[in-house]
Amino acid sequence: MSIDHPQRPHRNFYGRFKGKHLKQSQKTYLDEDLAALSPGAVDWETNPERTNLDLDGLFGGRPVWLEIGFGGGEHLVHQAANNPDVGIIGAEPYINGVAMLLGKIRRANADNLAVHPGDARDLFDVLPDQSISKAFLLYPDPWPKTRHHRRRFVTQEHLVPLARVLKPGAIFRVATDIEDYVRQTLEEVPKAGFQWLAERPTDWREPWDDWISTRYEQKALREDRVPHYLTFRRQG
Ligand SMILES: C[S@@+](CC[C@H](N)C(=O)[O-])C[C@H]1O[C@@H](n2cnc3c(N)ncnc32)[C@H](O)[C@@H]1O
Repeated sequence: MSIDHPQRPHRNFYGRFKGKHLKQSQKTYLDEDLAALSPGAVDWETNPERTNLDLDGLFGGRPVWLEIGFGGGEHLVHQAANNPDVGIIGAEPYINGVAMLLGKIRRANADNLAVHPGDARDLFDVLPDQSISKAFLLYPDPWPKTRHHRRRFVTQEHLVPLARVLKPGAIFRVATDIEDYVRQTLEEVPKAGFQWLAERPTDWREPWDDWISTRYEQKALREDRVPHYLTFRRQG
């Protein structure tokens, strides 16, 4: 990944771009399907002017949702298949996860999806202001050590551009199994212009009605960690 455009901000990314060996079928999905699922020019190399994406052209004027860090893509495909009247963009830098998603898209035959195989912050740059109706941040990397908390997604570096691209009244869902991540989320997300919508404990203890459990959540449950489901509304 080249980073030599003069205006390109330095963005630390501490996750993984590539993990274990890709299966031949996954390489085929990446070669054959990924380009056609592009939301448009997101990367600095192809869009140094940071021109906005044409979301109406992409999804025919449908409302647009966004999933940040979709992992293996089970939730993204589930939402796309159950909501054909919306378009959904997923961002995920981990190419093995992207390949897993592409296999699921083939099987689901969904056509209302776009995939940015990279950092959500690069996508925020080129999303028009107030263009997204719903966003999902499901089991973001926990970064448990105190000195690493500033690497978490729920910091103003990520939340301010997210707030800018969300429509007033848009819903932002966060799921996490880490109690200290709940604390930081409840402190930081409202500062960026969101209201937490919980009225009673079941609102954060029970999953959303349209939920499908993700790979990471299944691992958390096996290890006796407790999911929390936080729902915010973009104010304005
Ligand atoms: C713990 S995993 C959870 C994956 C999935 N949401 C699930 O619940 O199974 C967190 C994911 O966020 C991705 N991620 C981390 N930083 C990101 C960023 N800046 N933009 C997009 N995705 C990111 C990671 O690559 C990783 O796949």
